[in-house]
Amino acid sequence: MKHTTDILVIGSGIGGLTFAIKMATARPDLKITVLTKASETESNTKYAQGGIAAVWDENNDNFTKHEDDTMDAGAGLNDPEIVKMVVKEGPQRVKEIIDWGARFDKDKDNEYQLGREGGHSSNRVLHFKDLTGWEIQRALAEKCNDLPNIRILEHYFVLDLITQHHLGRIVTRVTPDITCYGAYALNKKSKEIETYLAKITFLATGGAGQVYKSTTNPVIATGDGIAMVYRAKGRIANMEFVQFHPTALFDARRRNSPDFLVSEAVRGHGGILKTRDGEQFMDKYDKRKSLAPRDIVARAIDHEMKVRGEESMFLDVRHFEPGDFATSFPTINEACLEAGIDPLTQMIPVVPAAHYICGGVVIDHKGATSIRNLYAAGEVTYSGLHGANRLASNSLLEALVFADNASEAVGSMIDQVKPETGIPLWNAKGTTEPDEMILITQSTKELKEIMSSYVGIVRTNIRLKRAIDRINLLNLETEELYKSTIVSPQLFELRNLIKIGYLITSSAQMRRESIGLHFNTDYPDKLGFREITYK
Ligand code: FAD
Ligand code: SIN
Repeated sequence: MKHTTDILVIGSGIGGLTFAIKMATARPDLKITVLTKASETESNTKYAQGGIAAVWDENNDNFTKHEDDTMDAGAGLNDPEIVKMVVKEGPQRVKEIIDWGARFDKDKDNEYQLGREGGHSSNRVLHFKDLTGWEIQRALAEKCNDLPNIRILEHYFVLDLITQHHLGRIVTRVTPDITCYGAYALNKKSKEIETYLAKITFLATGGAGQVYKSTTNPVIATGDGIAMVYRAKGRIANMEFVQFHPTALFDARRRNSPDFLVSEAVRGHGGILKTRDGEQFMDKYDKRKSLAPRDIVARAIDHEMKVRGEESMFLDVRHFEPGDFATSFPTINEACLEAGIDPLTQMIPVVPAAHYICGGVVIDHKGATSIRNLYAAGEVTYSGLHGANRLASNSLLEALVFADNASEAVGSMIDQVKPETGIPLWNAKGTTEPDEMILITQSTKELKEIMSSYVGIVRTNIRLKRAIDRINLLNLETEELYKSTIVSPQLFELRNLIKIGYLITSSAQMRRESIGLHFNTDYPDKLGFREITYK
């Protein structure tokens, strides 16, 4: 089946829905179709806890401080112009989602309560209890549903972007003017692969945490967008910078994926990292102690666990005023109680878990990728904002700013885009489901083990070599399976995860230094190369 639309948005998290709303409002004459592989509200966005960073209290904060904190957390590898732009546009973008209905906590004087997280030198994090992402996702979904020119199609799995390659032309990484004409998507209900043709395609497929065994990311986070752009020969950069959140809840009884996050806002509120014996240890690693940037805290916890032979470190909130923890962090409190830990009387066991990918599809300040007519925003991208390590609560902000910029850029050029004719339907070589699911599930488990064991917080040359050799083998086996079997979202996700594992590991091999989130004991020095790029 072939469909045409003016704009195809892939993904319904903060990046995709914000872009759809802005386009639909500015251009009611355009038809906007959003495809999303699960339900409309299932995304990384929905699980965001801490909040969204923006300079709000001008008496105690300013743009320069937010810029400096972002650059400092990013070990200076950030693009300073992009940092300046995002920080400056931040407050307007946050006001806009408030106008669309997003609620944030206020104090008794009706002023927004501003939280603090690691690496921030001022209180600037707007939040809705510990459910900020859920609230933003709700408000955006409701706003979209009010706009008649947006159509959201749930349970559509986008497989690949359509480019000249599908017109039978040879496309390589040096082909000039690779152009995107839309995408092929599996309708998960009918099991048919449908063709969506669009003048502009907007990619907002989010992150890739599921490539690791322990992750805070929900199961949708399989790096599909990055893998699609890599296959389409677009530019990808800095995939080695994987952010491990220092404090996922360690539940020895149940090791499910995803791991439940214990927000950094808990440390911003006074929570202290300790050993099992109740000893503080962060002062050995950074003068900001428990509120140092994430790369430093995650490495410190990892180190303490390894030297002490412990399965976790601990977060102590027992000194909070009675009732404060349960009121400020109701979801976290409930998750702790379910895991058999009462934060009032017991320290919370925590471990690092894969959380955010700083690299991705290269975009410019307008959200344009290296592929013509393909724009992107959010965690799928590499915009230059985060450098070698993302500052907490800067990613929701990044998605808002780039979705807005992209909507302006697209608004001024879409009328000049000539639709391509002659795009073939997906070649449905067969339509059976694989009868050996074990091959897919087992390879997925193997990949996660490889990434967690060899390409984690601390890396070495030999571990990276082991990882790449095994990933190459998994890739060969999976591509064989892909040629012979057909419609299976699990297989599509495995293929994408293998590409992500490959990109992270090979970029890590290329970066011969230790900086920010990339720490290789064979290259301990910091050199400061801004980009490791796949062109
Ligand atoms: P997402 O919100 O992940 O949306 C991606 C969308 O794409 C989903 O709808 C998904 O179903 C869809 N999709 C993916 N692949 C396909 C495909 N092949 N076909 C069709 N659809 C597809 N950041 C902050 O700034 N502050 C925080 O407090 C914060 N807390 C966090 C807490 C947790 C537990 C997690 C996991 C992340 C947190 N982050 C936080 C990070 C932040 O939530 C994400 O970076 C951000 O929400 C990403 O938004 P996005 O729109 O790029 O992607
Ligand atoms: C958290 O609440 O700790 C997550 C914040 C973030 O990832 O930005």
